[in-house]
Amino acid sequence: MKPLTIAIDGHSSTGKSTLAKQLAKALGYVYVDSGAMYRAVALNALRNGWVSKESGAQASKINAHVEVLVIDFELDQKGVNTTLLNGEVVEEAIRTMEVSNVVSHVAKLVPVRRHLVALQQAMGENGGVVMDGRDIGTVVFPNAELKIFMTASDEVRAKRRKAELDAKGQVHSLQDVLENLKSRDKADMERADSPLIAAEDAVTLDNSSITREEQFQRVLGWVEDLQK
Ligand code: CDP
Repeated sequence: MKPLTIAIDGHSSTGKSTLAKQLAKALGYVYVDSGAMYRAVALNALRNGWVSKESGAQASKINAHVEVLVIDFELDQKGVNTTLLNGEVVEEAIRTMEVSNVVSHVAKLVPVRRHLVALQQAMGENGGVVMDGRDIGTVVFPNAELKIFMTASDEVRAKRRKAELDAKGQVHSLQDVLENLKSRDKADMERADSPLIAAEDAVTLDNSSITREEQFQRVLGWVEDLQK
C-alpha cells in the first residue's frame, strides 16, 4: 500500500504534535515538526540579537543567514524526536516562552519560509510522513491524502501549554501563556505569505472536550478508510 502523506495544521497548542507523533508511531511513518524548524531559526536570531518581542525581526540579517543554518532531527536514546541546530541539540531551548514570543516575527519572512518549505518538502518526498505546522496542507503538501485542521478553546489551549511549561520548570502566568497563544495565532493568520488557514479539503478537529485517546482512534479510523 502506498504510504500516505498526513498534514496536520491548526492553532497554537492544539495538540498537533501529540497527535502527529502518535500517528507516526502507529503507522511507522516519519514525523516532522515544522514548527520546531521555525523555532530553531528564531532561536538563532535571538542569540544574535536580530529579533525581539517589541521591535520585531531584523529581516535582512535573518534572511541572509537562514540558508547556512543546518536544521535537522534525530531520535534521542529514548526514541524521542529531537531538534538539532548546527549539530547542537536545541529541543529544550526552542520551547521557551522567549522563543515563543518572537517566532511569529521570524516565520513571516518570505525567504525563511521559502527555505524551510523546501527542506520540509524534501523530508516528505517519499510519503509515509506526518508533518504538523500551519501551512502543511495548503503550501508544503497541497496533495496530502489526509489533511487535519486542529483547534480547541482558548482556555483549554492555555491550560495545556502552561502545564507543559510548568513540567519543565518554566513558570509563567496563565495570562501570559494565553496572550502568547493569541498573539501568535493572530500573527500567523494575518501574515501575507502562507497564512494559517484550513485547506479547503481539510477535516476540522476540535479537541476541546475529547481525550487524546478518543482523538487518536477517530483519526486512525480516517486513515484506515483511506487505505481501504
Ligand atoms: O507548539 P505550537 O503549536 O505553539 O507552535 P509550533 O508548531 O511550534 O510553531 C511555532 C510557530 O512557528 C508558529 O506560531 C508559527 O509562527 C510558526 N510556524 C509556521 O509559520 N509555519 C509552520 N508550518 C509551522 C510553524
